[in-house]
Amino acid sequence: MSTGDLHVRAMTPADDAEAYARVATEAFYLEGSEHDELRKAEIALLQAHPGDYQGAFDGDELVAVAGCPIRLMTLPGNGQQPVACVTAVGTATSHRRRGALRAMMRFQVEHIRKEGRTGIALLSASEGSIYGRFGYGIASERANFEVPRGTEFAAGVDFGSERVRHLTQEQARDHVRAVYEQVAPARVGWLTRDEHNWIFAHFPATGGATPMRFAVVSGGYAAYQIKANWQRRGPASELMIKELVAATPAAHAALWRELINLDQIGEITWDRTGVEDPLPRMLRDPRQVTVDVVDDLWVRLVDLSTALPARTYSAPVDAVLEVTDEFCPWNAGRWRLVVDDKGQATVERSTADPDVRLDIADLGAIFLGGVRLTRLAAAGRVVEHRAGTVSALTRTFLGDTAPHIPEVF
Ligand SMILES: CC(C)(COP(=O)(O)OP(=O)(O)OC[C@H]1O[C@@H](n2cnc3c(N)ncnc32)[C@H](O)[C@@H]1OP(=O)(O)O)[C@@H](O)C(=O)NCCC(=O)NCCS
Repeated sequence: MSTGDLHVRAMTPADDAEAYARVATEAFYLEGSEHDELRKAEIALLQAHPGDYQGAFDGDELVAVAGCPIRLMTLPGNGQQPVACVTAVGTATSHRRRGALRAMMRFQVEHIRKEGRTGIALLSASEGSIYGRFGYGIASERANFEVPRGTEFAAGVDFGSERVRHLTQEQARDHVRAVYEQVAPARVGWLTRDEHNWIFAHFPATGGATPMRFAVVSGGYAAYQIKANWQRRGPASELMIKELVAATPAAHAALWRELINLDQIGEITWDRTGVEDPLPRMLRDPRQVTVDVVDDLWVRLVDLSTALPARTYSAPVDAVLEVTDEFCPWNAGRWRLVVDDKGQATVERSTADPDVRLDIADLGAIFLGGVRLTRLAAAGRVVEHRAGTVSALTRTFLGDTAPHIPEVF
């Protein structure tokens, strides 16, 4: 596939590995030997998913890269299902704004559709204005928490009776993986992880801090780093949580209490917990947690007819949707969506009058069950032709919990 003087093809580990890792890391300004481990992990992922990484070339020179390896993600009601995880998207500084990204995005959707392993693509965006034009919609948000050391818990919180231990990454490894694997299948938005994905999930990206440390308790762990900060009145170091996973409310409470009370800390921060993390509801003064919310997972239904039945739904519905989709015209047009009383969906082409008109990005946004269609309608993105359809679809799509992804992939 060509665009101007650039052409896109699948990359192969044999021919493209070194150049791929260089372009992918330099696009994020991660140069220098301290990022060797990251480059190795990028190459290992390319090797593990042959065919799922694309490069744009200027002659023989690789100038832009992207990947869409398939992983399993927990979807509402239907356990772990294949999704294309769009990753490592970058264009060399010298070749920006010449259409490389657009050409790779086109190559990707056609590749995903042709392979037929999933109809769902998703990503976390480095900048908020890039991916809407390609039919991606915001399907989950993440919360950034800041909690001061010593914050008190409310009366009655159950912390269990076990003492929390602090371990190195090596010591904690098996426990951490077992807990994650136990918890992930029930958490909408969480991915399965192989060896390579674990390196990314806990890669200590923050320089000037301790190596990753682990607090562990039965059924839970917290991965964190500490960044020293000495002030005239005493230490005010930052404890940065990378990931806190707990199978039970008591393990969750015990881990938070441990981290909130560590010596020499000023603030405990976590920049990617779920918007429904129960911590504020466990504190005597919930306002002690300051919360910033930002977009996280962007979902693109590459093939809506296979994507929509991949999850189950919360309420029956029978509606004709008129879908617009400029980038993937095979999705455009009228579809009848029927959800039965067990939450199973069927979707087929229709010639009936539409009940509602919306864009594919909006279907992607509501797909994980965390966004109400009423919110998108209030933003003027949805046209309702039959009164009540937006509310009905809102109830159908909304899940029991807000989707959340604990990692950057
Ligand atoms: C983001 C990035 C990959 C874009 O690559 P590119 O090859 O310059 O993009 P293209 O020339 O194909 O642009 C495609 C479209 O996206 C728009 N676009 C590109 N980068 C954008 C940005 N950072 N913000 C907003 N819009 C952007 C272009 O204006 C163009 O719009 P149009 O086709 O509707 O007119 C590149 O700037 C980059 O490598 N950035 C640093 C790494 C990064 O952030 N990667 C994304 C990870 S999610």
